[in-house]
Amino acid sequence: MPMATAPQAPPSWPLVRLDSARKYFPIRGGLFGHSARYVRAVNNVSMTIERGETFGLVGESGSGKTTLARLIPGLLRPSGGRVLYDGRDIARTHGGELNRLRRRMGIVFQDPASSLNPRSPVRASIRRPLDLQGVRGREAERRVLETIDRVNLGREVLDRYPHQLSGGQQQRASIARAIILNPELVILDEPTSALDVSIQAQILNLLQSLQEQIRLTYLFITHNLSIVRYMSDRIGVMYLGKLVEVAPAEALHDRPFHPYTAALLSASPPLNPRLRDRKRYRLEGDPPSLISPPPGCGLHPRCPFAVEVCSERTPPLVEAAARRLVACHRWEELTLKVGPGA
Ligand SMILES: Nc1ncnc2c1ncn2[C@@H]1O[C@H](COP(=O)(O)OP(=O)(O)OP(=O)(O)O)[C@@H](O)[C@H]1O
Ligand SMILES: [Mg+2]
Repeated sequence: MPMATAPQAPPSWPLVRLDSARKYFPIRGGLFGHSARYVRAVNNVSMTIERGETFGLVGESGSGKTTLARLIPGLLRPSGGRVLYDGRDIARTHGGELNRLRRRMGIVFQDPASSLNPRSPVRASIRRPLDLQGVRGREAERRVLETIDRVNLGREVLDRYPHQLSGGQQQRASIARAIILNPELVILDEPTSALDVSIQAQILNLLQSLQEQIRLTYLFITHNLSIVRYMSDRIGVMYLGKLVEVAPAEALHDRPFHPYTAALLSASPPLNPRLRDRKRYRLEGDPPSLISPPPGCGLHPRCPFAVEVCSERTPPLVEAAARRLVACHRWEELTLKVGPGA
């Protein structure tokens, strides 16, 4: 008789996992329109987003944040590596199965205009995801009303056109559209960057209370380090298409391990006036090209701590401490500190 095998627990997958994910955009215009040149927008990124957490992604403009975010729902196909959603490889998922996976994700962009149709009343834009899933009539209207209440918008806005709403109302409507199918993951790509500071705070509070009420997982993308600290459980720092550091929000701010993170923190205005005279780390020059990134560590031409090895070998992203990853040859010798007593 064959030996009975013990029932195996199903593998517990992180909600999102990137394994050496790459996205290279070819540059046309070479000889015969062919070209071996690429913009390496996302270059070998491995990371996870755990259920229920807010993963904040920061980095300068052009570091690849939006491209990374677009790989997750399969809006872009990776050029290499894998993007897994709940253990399923997005690039190998098609048709109805892909549709069912995408239904589990919502996206909010910086510009509400990208999710609200200027020529239709707001109701139509919010209801659109339901239309695509074949939910119509009374049931659709019931869910529209339920969702509009959730984002604290008055029902009267449903019959208005986007240009008749304030920026904050438009962004609430975009959030309503993103959550109407009850997703697990919401990708927030600079959701408050276009708003006044006072309105920003209201939207951030709304996002936090929605997360508690309906147990959402967030990927929160921003340039703003104070916002990302306030919102995130863990933060990933991107530079030149690579993830250079991942850490719990507090730990990253208290003691950055990567010189690039320290420079970003130094450049962000301190909320606490006592920190105005803090120690600052500066980078030299501008970010290099993503088309021909420097050899070795992409930061070495700008890094005040660079030594020979930095221009020779690309530092791998290694586990530096519990829940902390860093890609720097010298992180252990450097004691970076940006803050009181620094
Ligand atoms: N469809 C595309 N075709 C070619 N290049 C692209 C495409 N999308 C993005 N890129 C390039 O990839 C790089 C990364 O862009 P991405 O939009 O991901 O950066 P980002 O970190 O989101 O920047 P920002 O903070 O300004 O939004 C940039 O150099 C950009 O020009
Ligand atoms: Mg972007």
